[in-house]
Amino acid sequence: MTKIAPSILSADFGNLAGEIHAVEAAGADLIHVDVMDGKFVPNLTFGPPVIASIRKTTDIPFDVHLMIETPGRYIGEYADAGSDFITVHVEAERHLHRTVHSIKERGVKAGVSLNPATPLDQIEEIIGDIDLLLIMSVNPGFGGQTFIENTLRKIERARALIDKEAPHVLLEVDGGVTLENIATIRDAGADILVAGSSIFRSNDYGHTIREMRRILGDQ
Ligand code: DX5
Ligand code: ZN
Repeated sequence: MTKIAPSILSADFGNLAGEIHAVEAAGADLIHVDVMDGKFVPNLTFGPPVIASIRKTTDIPFDVHLMIETPGRYIGEYADAGSDFITVHVEAERHLHRTVHSIKERGVKAGVSLNPATPLDQIEEIIGDIDLLLIMSVNPGFGGQTFIENTLRKIERARALIDKEAPHVLLEVDGGVTLENIATIRDAGADILVAGSSIFRSNDYGHTIREMRRILGDQ
């Protein structure tokens, strides 16, 4: 069954625990946690203390997406904060193999992400070592952007690579996921769909998540 991961980037930061409980009650599978450093992406969010604080309020898995430079320096802090998945960008990390293994050594699932302009072949040598591949379908930094259509081809090629080389790897898609395109993205091969604004800027989170499941035929 396709997993739905609401991104708290579009949630009310003044009420993060309440927002997480609301989507958890509505049937979310994971919480997608967007960490931005103002360098790798032109926006800032939060770091380990905030994650540790919300971790105390729920048991739902945290899918932590690090949009930060040299993430390998901070893996210990994000693991200790209670991450279940830690995903780093290939564009931000010179020593990707070392960083992936330092995530796994801490008992956390390791993800690697590609920006829209980064070719899929950048992860060919690491695909067997990771737990999750995150294909960005917008340029990272902001919620509410439009899905970049030609990433569908990349999702299909990523699916084929995973099926051939590393069937244990989960394929996640992040950016511009809406009720209109969610089925197309799943059909291209996604296992996990991140959705920020389409859930947290809707009037009724529960209704939106149920609609997503109905469209996916997964309810
Ligand atoms: C973008 C983030 C996304 C973002 C998606 O840089 O990585 O996770 O929250 O937001 P929507 O779903 O609104 O495109
Ligand atoms: Zn994200």
